[in-house]
Amino acid sequence: MATSSPVHSSGAPRSRSLRVRLLISGAVAAVAALGVAIVMPNANAAASTLGAAAAQSGRYFGTAIAASRLGDSTYTTIAGREFNMVTAENEMKPDATEPQRGQFTFSAGDQIYNWATQRGMKVRGHTLAWHAQQPGWMQSLGGSSLRQAMIDHINGVMAHYKGKLAAWDVVNEAFNEDGSRRQSNLQGTGNDWIEVAFRTARNADPSAKLCYNDYNIENWSYGKTQGVYRMIQDFRSRGVPIDCVGLQTHFTGGSSLPSNFQTTLSSFAALGVDVALTEVDVTNASTTQYAGLTQACMNVPRCIGITVWGVRDSDSWRSSESPLLFDGGGNKKAAYTSVLNALNAAGPTATSSPTGGTASPSPTVTPGGAKRIVGAQSGRCVDVPNASRNNGTRVQLYDCNGQVNQAWTLTSSRQLTVYGSMCLDAAGSGNASAVQIYSCNGQANQQWNVNSNGTITGVQSGRCLDVWGTANGQQIQIYDCNGQANQRFSLS
Ligand code: G3I
Repeated sequence: MATSSPVHSSGAPRSRSLRVRLLISGAVAAVAALGVAIVMPNANAAASTLGAAAAQSGRYFGTAIAASRLGDSTYTTIAGREFNMVTAENEMKPDATEPQRGQFTFSAGDQIYNWATQRGMKVRGHTLAWHAQQPGWMQSLGGSSLRQAMIDHINGVMAHYKGKLAAWDVVNEAFNEDGSRRQSNLQGTGNDWIEVAFRTARNADPSAKLCYNDYNIENWSYGKTQGVYRMIQDFRSRGVPIDCVGLQTHFTGGSSLPSNFQTTLSSFAALGVDVALTEVDVTNASTTQYAGLTQACMNVPRCIGITVWGVRDSDSWRSSESPLLFDGGGNKKAAYTSVLNALNAAGPTATSSPTGGTASPSPTVTPGGAKRIVGAQSGRCVDVPNASRNNGTRVQLYDCNGQVNQAWTLTSSRQLTVYGSMCLDAAGSGNASAVQIYSCNGQANQQWNVNSNGTITGVQSGRCLDVWGTANGQQIQIYDCNGQANQRFSLS
């Protein structure tokens, strides 16, 4: 459960030039937004339920369902009308599905699955490997015995639901607030337990999307967010099968919507995974926070859907904070309208890979083992315009297309080569120096450090690879490192 507030971005003063740049980009964004509002009104007629509104942009809107409430007609009427995705709140967890070792029970989980699918809804599985809600017999295991029990549990549960679920939260809440691994009994079986869980899951049901799910990973500057990001980045680079990151989005218990939430979503998405908001609730159902979190998802094409953690306030695990979209009487709250409006106004269509888990592992493999350099903010690739091979051609951002002019090889001498013999080259060492291609010459302006924090720094200048926008054609430069998403790239 969410127990502490994420830290917010540091108040360190920005350089004057960066401030000016942010003001300009903010103004451009405002003008652009105004332009869209005037020139391109949403052609869709407004939908009147959350699920239908989300579906207009190819997304879903879901809720957690508790089997014990399925006899409550107010509950089922709202849930059946409003949502098109369901997560079992407790009924597919390890204590529920394998109460005795090797003896699986799916009656409560199946009750929810059947209720949802009979109404045309999809189902997310939650969850297979978690430090909490383990059955008693599992809590007392450790070492290789627990490792085997985890594998057997994943195989047993996934076999029962094989081919039936949209996604599984394979591993839940494995990180501490500072970005280190939580010291659970599962962690005690070895640091590789998470990747073993994902590999087991892929084999057990190749059709389900496989997600890592956690809370307090919504603030991009927070240690836990960065820890999870590094793990996903590592998994993607090594081909560990993972398709999605679930951000629980519990803005209750002292947490609230961070201003950089969209950056977090787009940064995870740039690693080549879908993102989803999986357990949303907000203290007192703040309309601005609900609208903001919905808008952030709508703005990120790979944000595939939103799930609220319960139907009415009275159904919530934190009911005293009245955090949901319907009050205890089943009436729509103001937050409901703010979410519905944001869904109805959505622009980009979600671009999840269509065939579940088969899309992973890495989408990146290009001839010779070369990789894409993907901008965390834009999701676009570092590209040589028109596949030019001329010395001095400046590189830019462009939609990733898997072609040779986006295929970069990091050599043992820290060059980033393209077409075999051309190098990524800094045309100078000052701020805003152009980054171009040039015949490889072994000099320091053609050497780059690919850092674990996602930056790529020039050996000669010490400055970061940087791009001043997210659109196709934006030119790459070097600039003082500032810790922001426009300076983070992944080789994938
Ligand atoms: O069903 C028993 C009931 O028979 C018994 O009388 C009663 C006595 O306490 O307990 C009932 O079980 C409770 C169960 O919810 C069903 O209501 C458990 O005590 C209670 O611990 C359990 O809480 C759940 C919690 O996970 C446990 O970790 C919440 O419902 C559920 O909403 C919550 O969900 C988690 C997500 O899985 C992961 N992310 C955080 C989220 C909120 O904590």
